[in-house]
Amino acid sequence: IGNTIGLTPALGWNSWNAWGLSVNDEKVRTAARNMAERLASHGWSYVNIDDGWEAESRDANGKIVTNNKFPDMKGLTDYVHSLGLRMGIYSSPGPRTCGGYLGSYQHEDDDAITYGNWGIDYLKYDWCSYGQIAPSHPNLDEMKKPYLVMRASLDKADRDILFSYCQYGMGEVWKWGAEAGGNSWRTTGDITDTWASMSGIGFNQDKAAPYAGPGHYNDPDMLVVGKVGWGPALHNSRLTYDEQYTHISLWSLLASPLLIGCDMGHLDRFTLSLLTNDEVIAINQDALGKEARQYLKNADYQIWVKELTGGRKAIGLFNTSDKYQTISLPKTDAALKGYTKFRDAWRQQNLTAVSGKIAPHGVLLVTVSK
Ligand code: GLA
Repeated sequence: IGNTIGLTPALGWNSWNAWGLSVNDEKVRTAARNMAERLASHGWSYVNIDDGWEAESRDANGKIVTNNKFPDMKGLTDYVHSLGLRMGIYSSPGPRTCGGYLGSYQHEDDDAITYGNWGIDYLKYDWCSYGQIAPSHPNLDEMKKPYLVMRASLDKADRDILFSYCQYGMGEVWKWGAEAGGNSWRTTGDITDTWASMSGIGFNQDKAAPYAGPGHYNDPDMLVVGKVGWGPALHNSRLTYDEQYTHISLWSLLASPLLIGCDMGHLDRFTLSLLTNDEVIAINQDALGKEARQYLKNADYQIWVKELTGGRKAIGLFNTSDKYQTISLPKTDAALKGYTKFRDAWRQQNLTAVSGKIAPHGVLLVTVSK
């Protein structure tokens, strides 16, 4: 089975930003049910368990087993598949995960085969305690090594498994992630639901942008919309509504995997509207697989441009200031040369110009065509 999956960025859910280590079978089923009923028709398909599912020790044959929060992983995967969705799981190349659970170190083949038998479709592979195995200042080869080892193991499994690297951008992973067999790789540390965190990550991706393409994408971490909490106590995302529009717009322009991080059992209308706008999702899922570049940056706003199929472009005008601003890209600008049709992707309305009065920390997301 060749590595020709994940040609567009993954669209799905991951348990971490809502549930942290308190994830369990029932929460994953709730996520899957809600995805199937409310999101799947817009393209969402992955239901990914993050850290916290592994038992304290392997069985006598070295096989990884689940803890009591996941009584039957195969049964859960079958359920997710029965809804037409795909199932993801999490591990570390180290002996332990970041949450202290069992990792895959020296059991890579065993684990890849187990994932295949369970029917897993996506593996997030998180560096974590591999730091104790690798030299303290690993060179590039040493950094790639654990990912190449698991890549080889996944290739032995009788299943296509999307391979998502998580090592927080070390060693400029965007330069070698594809060649080392990854379908996506985290470019940063962990996101949280504040403007400083989200904008600090999102507006700093230009350096990695040239390396994205079909089947291999930069991953600036999971979405922080809806009810999040990293554990039992959930709260509504602390991003304002306009900041959430910016978050989804920017991650769509960045051709990032879109992994919802909230309690899927309590999707409010606003969050649902953010996640079900087909014109916005189409920007993320464009088959060209290009990532937006930062086109303009000044003290008050930024403009990012993503090339789309058919010679079209998606353009984000981001008000990074604390006051309302009218931001425009003049028709005479080089980026708009030859373009005559402008459309507001969020409002799904044609525009006469790429220009708008934009709220503080808000966005105007436009697609342009000839
Ligand atoms: C790291 C990762 C997170 C999450 C946790 C789980 O912090 O970056 O996305 O997977 O580990 O412990």
